[in-house]
Amino acid sequence: MPFTLAHLSDVHLAPLPTPRITELINKRLTGYVNWRLKRHLVHRREVLDALVADLKAQAPNHIAVTGDIANIALEEEFVRGRKWLQQLGSRNDVSFVPGNHDAYVPQAFRYAPQWAPYMTGDDGAVGFPYVRKRGPLALIGLSTGVSTAPFMATGRLGKAQVEALGPLLDALKTEGLFRVILIHHPPVTQAKSHKRLLDAWALVETIAGHGAELLLHGHDHLRMLNWLDGPAGSHVPAVGVPSASAAPGTSHDAAAYNLYAIDGGPGAWRCELVSRGIGEDGTFAERARTTLAA
Ligand SMILES: [Fe+2]
Ligand SMILES: [Fe+2]
Repeated sequence: MPFTLAHLSDVHLAPLPTPRITELINKRLTGYVNWRLKRHLVHRREVLDALVADLKAQAPNHIAVTGDIANIALEEEFVRGRKWLQQLGSRNDVSFVPGNHDAYVPQAFRYAPQWAPYMTGDDGAVGFPYVRKRGPLALIGLSTGVSTAPFMATGRLGKAQVEALGPLLDALKTEGLFRVILIHHPPVTQAKSHKRLLDAWALVETIAGHGAELLLHGHDHLRMLNWLDGPAGSHVPAVGVPSASAAPGTSHDAAAYNLYAIDGGPGAWRCELVSRGIGEDGTFAERARTTLAA
């Protein structure tokens, strides 16, 4: 039986809690106005709930969530986010990495312990990169969530994470594991510069030097597949999913999640991707199937 990994992203949990006035004296004000005017029409709780129900019916072995559970990083959003994560699965069965909306304002880091069980490596440490080994997989969690000025949605890995990543990828390859990098911002994107990963070049260089079997991301709220260069002429698929709560017929791709069936072994991995998304009628079904490694 192959190991199945489910990937969803950009939960943007609705409804947004009512903020206190004092919570809006910063970047949250523009975010709050934006939510009230536009985003509440896009990110729908009933869509997210239908996605999670469909995902659970597939009974994956593990679930990866690549950021943006929150919207404007209110304390109450972290409380509700923790409850949502607990309903999704246990801390052992769900791995999370933060996005820019989870780090919307600098004080958000104070609330992050709410979600720490889902960002804890097998060594018991909360930090990035973390490593969690599940079946034939090594899940490598990276954080690009940094607070930025209003209207900015950039991300940054920083020198320490980038420098740790290369040796980690080498060690996990030696162990014969299927290396899956989890990151919120995509390494390759068509998005405008105010939404990009600022040090994407460092990630791309590290993967070119050390390899990985798969990279999963969110942030652009689109179905994406880019092939990154790996060592010795190999290629690494970087796959993005739409927002897990995006209603059909809005500006970006409608809600979907991806299921990866992985088996084989070092040098002969098999990895099949099945994408399940929402249709105009509100029901989830298979929308695409792609073989990434055979
Ligand atoms: Fe997002
Ligand atoms: Fe994002």
